[in-house]
Amino acid sequence: MKMIREHHLRDLHWLRLPPASFHGCLLLALCIGTALCACGADDHGLALTPPMGWNSWNHFRLNISDAVVRKQAGAMVKSGMKAAGYEYVVIDGGWEGYHDAQGLFRPNKLKFPDMKALCDYIHSLGLKVGLHTTPGPVTCSGREGSYGYEEEDARTFARWGIDLVKYDWCSGDTVYKPAEITAAYEKMHQALLRAGRPILYSLCEYGLEDVWKWGASVGGHMWRTTDDISDEYWNVAYIGFEQNGLEKYAGPGHWNDPDMLEIGNGGMTDEEYRTQMSLWCILAAPLFAGNDLENMSGATLGILTNPEVLSIDQDPAGIQGHRVWQEGPREVWMKPLKDGSKAVGLFNRLEYPLMITANWRELGLPAPATVRDLWARKGLGTFATGFTGSVPAHGAVLIRVK
Ligand code: GLA
Repeated sequence: MKMIREHHLRDLHWLRLPPASFHGCLLLALCIGTALCACGADDHGLALTPPMGWNSWNHFRLNISDAVVRKQAGAMVKSGMKAAGYEYVVIDGGWEGYHDAQGLFRPNKLKFPDMKALCDYIHSLGLKVGLHTTPGPVTCSGREGSYGYEEEDARTFARWGIDLVKYDWCSGDTVYKPAEITAAYEKMHQALLRAGRPILYSLCEYGLEDVWKWGASVGGHMWRTTDDISDEYWNVAYIGFEQNGLEKYAGPGHWNDPDMLEIGNGGMTDEEYRTQMSLWCILAAPLFAGNDLENMSGATLGILTNPEVLSIDQDPAGIQGHRVWQEGPREVWMKPLKDGSKAVGLFNRLEYPLMITANWRELGLPAPATVRDLWARKGLGTFATGFTGSVPAHGAVLIRVK
């Protein structure tokens, strides 16, 4: 898989600090840490199914505050998103202040006057809290990061009541060599373990160094496999359909993350948003809504909360699906489910409708087989050799077959 990262931090090379001895120490610390604690990705039993929640970045960017986050958390409950399974409220970049003289990470006090009180409020709604930081000295937006403060920051996050840390590479390459990326992520893993609170560890480094091969070994419960998503069909399709082949690296406790949902952000049609949801569910991807939960249409809410569609993503077997057949813009993907049935997605990548056939033999399904349309939530009957559906432009048909 080709990874492209247009880094917006090229001007930060003056931050390339540490002498070679530092890297040696880091490696030694990593070895000792790993020997002392053979904790895998499943420590604390977190993320047994793909994590679900909301993240501030896709819609709000840096325009976040205590008030914005409280309102989004409230809307997550009121809208029915919480009841549908969305749990984490993730505060992405934009909350940071500075490390004080004692090395304590302070939020931007004008926007986030009391992080612990905010966490307490979110917890009182029965939700969990996530926070963004970086192994580098500065975040992707030029705010302070956790470099050199990993232990203190992990303790601070635990004290505030943070339940998820999104650890975003950003300026990591100004202080670490490419081969040190694993050690940089392991360092925060060990710090989080020592902080003593079950914290879901979300790795974000855009797929560098084939993170899917080692993400679980540094305690990652999920890891980004790609560069940032955008609210455009071509980008969602590029990222989503590129995930084929990574399925063997995912499973309960450790998931490939093709980035957050754009559903409801306005750049795509509802059909295109249904495609993102259908594909992300087949991929057993973490589902982080990225829209404004206070102001969403009925269609957006319907796409985000369809229980039969979400049950594909959240299937307890935790098997990531893969592409079974492709001919030009027609694709058929399949995800095996715990009860022996299979979720099948018919995807049309063209700008006009197409007929697409899922063939039972190619899918390893018995013939005849019964079909349920998951978006329509209705049984379609029994089919002898396969199922042919009319798939809208850039759209998807999602069925459950047994
Ligand atoms: C990176 C990440 C995004 C988001 C931004 C915040 O680009 O990939 O998901 O966290 O940083 O600056």
